[in-house]
Amino acid sequence: MSRRISIEALRADFTQRFGVTARVFSAPGRVNLIGEHTDYNDGFVLPMAIGRRTFVAASPRSDRRVVAHSLTVSAPFELELDVEGPRRRGHFGDFVEGTARALLARGIPLVGANLLIDTEVPLGAGLSASAALEMAVGLALASLAGHQDMSRVTLSLAGQAAEHEYVGTLCGIMDQYIAALGEKGHALLIDCRSLEQRAVPMHLDGASVLVCDTHVKHDLASSEYNLRRADCERAVSILAKSLPGVTALRDVTMADLERHAHALPEVVHRRARHVVSENARTLDAAQALERGDFERFGRAMCESHVSLRDDYEVSAPELDAAVDAALTVPGVFGARMTGGGFGGCTVMLVRDEAIPAVSSAVSEKLRSEFGRDPEIFSSRAHGGAREESF
Ligand code: GLA
Repeated sequence: MSRRISIEALRADFTQRFGVTARVFSAPGRVNLIGEHTDYNDGFVLPMAIGRRTFVAASPRSDRRVVAHSLTVSAPFELELDVEGPRRRGHFGDFVEGTARALLARGIPLVGANLLIDTEVPLGAGLSASAALEMAVGLALASLAGHQDMSRVTLSLAGQAAEHEYVGTLCGIMDQYIAALGEKGHALLIDCRSLEQRAVPMHLDGASVLVCDTHVKHDLASSEYNLRRADCERAVSILAKSLPGVTALRDVTMADLERHAHALPEVVHRRARHVVSENARTLDAAQALERGDFERFGRAMCESHVSLRDDYEVSAPELDAAVDAALTVPGVFGARMTGGGFGGCTVMLVRDEAIPAVSSAVSEKLRSEFGRDPEIFSSRAHGGAREESF
């Protein structure tokens, strides 16, 4: 079960370790409602920030060091702002150093800092614990240097650069963007090309977003993720020969794709078909949510899952089983895997009165077929990265 962090206890721990008082910053994990594997294709996504956050207590130092302690990792991490450290160390220091370097590279001057980090976002569950860490650390470091008003889009781009350069995941912008800019009571329809967004109110009256963490982690996730990206790039390079102006799958319509299907290897065609159809579904689903049309929204979620399972091939048997079990329960509008895939979470839109029945149907299925004990929780839409007041 998830831990709740006490900001007071975190500050007290900080004072004991560093002998000074701290400001506290935080950023949320996220669940993506729809729009999967579209962000790195310049497309559309519709995530919301969840109520579980990563907290960073922080104070400035008089030297140029950043000293980071994490309550979930034993060894502290240190970096010198003026000396670049190695990349891809394989621990939380990559996120800290990557974010600090990316902020410096974007012209945000930083000062030395003491950091104490703790998180409520489970690691490796597909709820973007890493983006929450980057955005909380990034906001803390920028704020200590007097740049708390820096553009949140720039902050999110710095987090994405940290992933690309220091962590080694070629992720899109969705996770960092929603962690930086999430709005209470709203999902964000993000245009991953223009980096503009529209806040979509989550007037769920009588319905809830349920998240099921299957606790399945697949080693394939990162290597397969990068392969999917490469398939999409291949599709673009082939299609661009006959479709001038196409620079990303965002620019391709379903009619275009089908007309040129013969030019694409079969697997590449299916990958592209997922992305093109998912972009259209995401725009449609956002409109349905705005109108309170949960039936239509739920249908789009289900279609998204099938497309991710069959065309994009990023689902997992446990995710498919969790989705199938949910859909047997009356009052479930829709269910799908969420995030990068190969494990992690599913997301469902359900009538409030169906929550107990869905939870037991999904848990039962995962227990009996896979010996897994999932965690199922409902979440409202929360705000993005912020400084905590107390
Ligand atoms: C991961 C990445 C995101 C996005 C999703 C899939 O969460 O970090 O950028 O590509 O997978 O939609």
